[in-house]
Formats: sequence, C-alpha cells, structure tokens
Amino acid sequence: MPRVMLLPGDGIGPEVMRQAEQVLDALLPEADILRDDVGGAAYGRYGTPLADETLETIKTCDAVLFGAIGGPQWDHVEYEKRPEAGLLKLRKELGLFANLRPALVFDALASASSLKEDLVSGLDILIVRELTGGVYFGEPRGVEVLANGQKRGVDTQVYTTYEIERIASVAFDLARKRGGRVTSVDKANVMASGRLWRDTVTALYDTEGDAITLEHLYADNCAMQLVRAPKQFDVIVTDNLFGDILSDCAAMLTGSLGMLPSASLGDGTTPGVFEPVHGSAPDIAGQDVANPLAMILSLAMALRYALNRGDLANRVEGAVKQALANGARTADLGGTLSCTDMGDAVLAAL
Ligand code: IPM
Ligand code: MG
Repeated sequence: MPRVMLLPGDGIGPEVMRQAEQVLDALLPEADILRDDVGGAAYGRYGTPLADETLETIKTCDAVLFGAIGGPQWDHVEYEKRPEAGLLKLRKELGLFANLRPALVFDALASASSLKEDLVSGLDILIVRELTGGVYFGEPRGVEVLANGQKRGVDTQVYTTYEIERIASVAFDLARKRGGRVTSVDKANVMASGRLWRDTVTALYDTEGDAITLEHLYADNCAMQLVRAPKQFDVIVTDNLFGDILSDCAAMLTGSLGMLPSASLGDGTTPGVFEPVHGSAPDIAGQDVANPLAMILSLAMALRYALNRGDLANRVEGAVKQALANGARTADLGGTLSCTDMGDAVLAAL
C-alpha cells in the first residue's frame, strides 16, 4: 500500500492540497494518507518549520505532496526558523538534488500567456534544477558586523564535479526520452564555479552524450531567450539559483504561475517531494480562489515518478487538459471558478 505524506503548509497550501487529495482519493483509494504541518504552520505547532518527528515519518513514505510555505506573519521569526528553512531542510535531508520543473502550455491556455500566442502554443520545456547545492547551502554564509560598525553579508556559491555530473546526467537521461536537446546554463564568463559547471557538463557529454545534443548558454542570455523564443528549448539544466529564477520565468509562459508542478528527486532511497512552483500567495489565502492545477499536476508527477503509476499520471494530466478545454478557469487564468470548483472540474473530467 503506497504511503503518501501530505504537507499542506501555509497560505493557499491547504486549499490547493484539498483538491489534490480529492483526486488522489478517487484514483488510489487504497493509499495510506498521512499529514503533518510544515513551514509557518509547523513553527506555530512545533516551534520549528520542519520537526524531526515529521522528517522521520516522511522517510517511511513513498512520496510527499507539499503545498506552499511562508507569509508575512512569520517575517519576524529568526532566520533559521523561517518557513523557507523547513523546505530547504527537507530537500537537503532527503538528498533531493534533482528538481524537475516542466513548463507545458495547454492548448486551451495559449492565449492566457503574457507572450504572443504563436510564441508559446505547443511549448513543452523541462527545467532541471540542481536543488541541494550552490549558493542555497554554500558555506561560509551569514552577516557579520565589521569594526567600523558596517555589516558584511556573505553567501557562497560552490559546486563540486560530482554534484554537477549527477544533475547533468539526470538531464541527459530525461532529454533522451523527450526532444533530445539539452541546454546547460551557467555564468562561466564571471564565476569560477560556472567555469567548472561548463567544463564538467562538457566532459560528461563526451562520455554520456549519445543520442542528445548539448549547448551552453549564459544565464542572462537564457532569461532573454526564454521570453524571446521559448520553443527553442527542450531540457534546460542549471544550478540551484538560476533554476529558481528561470523556472518562475518559464512558469509565466504557460499562462500562470498557478500551472507549474515540480518533482524533487533523490537517489531513490528517499521519497520524492512534489510541489507546485508557486508560493503561498498570502494575498489570496483563505478565499478559495487559488488555482489548484499546479498542485494537482504535482500529484500527477508523484504518481509517475514515485508511485510507479504512469497510467494514473496520464489520466490526471488528461483530466486537467479536458477541464481547461471545457473552459474551466480560475481567476489567475481570467476566469471565475473557485479553487474548489476547479478541483471538481478536474474530478468530473476524470
Ligand atoms: C522555489 C521557491 C523556494 C526556493 C523558496 C520558497 C525557498 O522559490 O521552490 O522555487 O527558492 O527554492
Ligand atoms: Mg522559486
């Protein structure tokens, strides 16, 4: 019996999670569902954004569905206990180094994009973001007070050959099952770690690059190309920080940040975490107006990548497509459906 942990989190997290859970119940009624708090909600309950007990239970599960974390009510919380720290700890502790962020434009939504329809219609790109290294975790980090009373903030961007190889290898494998084209993104023109990134990806390509093509882009150019001609891309592989930025950009191409799911995967010994790319959207939380599709599509990724049910994943994605084709739209897509109505529309299409 598959064990699935639900971590709804903060803001719109619980609302969108309810809709995904409804779909999960319908498709996999035998699943063992567990739930716990994370982020600000966990801080309120356990005094920490990811409790050790929660983490231990998660390790016994097959997949984790994660809603969203954060909000202004935790702005005053000490830096180490902020809601985001819970998410980063979860990724690090589970070794989830590979973050898959597909940006797919559903036919019915091509006109909802902020770009011209012909630029995005049929778009299907996959951003593979390194998730447990780089400046997100590099040491030293911190803010120190200097003798003259000024402060000095430091973060460290750091990558090893091994970290770069393993994420590039994931991207190469995924590209082989798709369009066969990999774009590796770095700032090799400025950063030493970027130079290592580029050299390492190139060397790996020489030994493991059969049946795919590889090109390199600087991150600034990639951002520009994503809004100029996004369909030139198939798989983009990049580091933690550039992947964070470029995936928000790619999300908007699809019509709304509320459309983008993600999968965070490790070496297979720990459960993957499946979460929408969007955040907790405190401005609309509790109003039942959020778009639950990114969460529902994240469930589809969990079915495919963690629960070995690609058949059910296809059904969920097909139902989302159908609901959109039927005209179902939440406010972010220019419609009037509530979060609950949208979830029901997907369920009806199932
Ligand atoms: C994301 C988010 C997180 C990140 C935040 C909430 C820590 O923006 O998953 O893209 O920066 O990785
Ligand atoms: Mg982000």
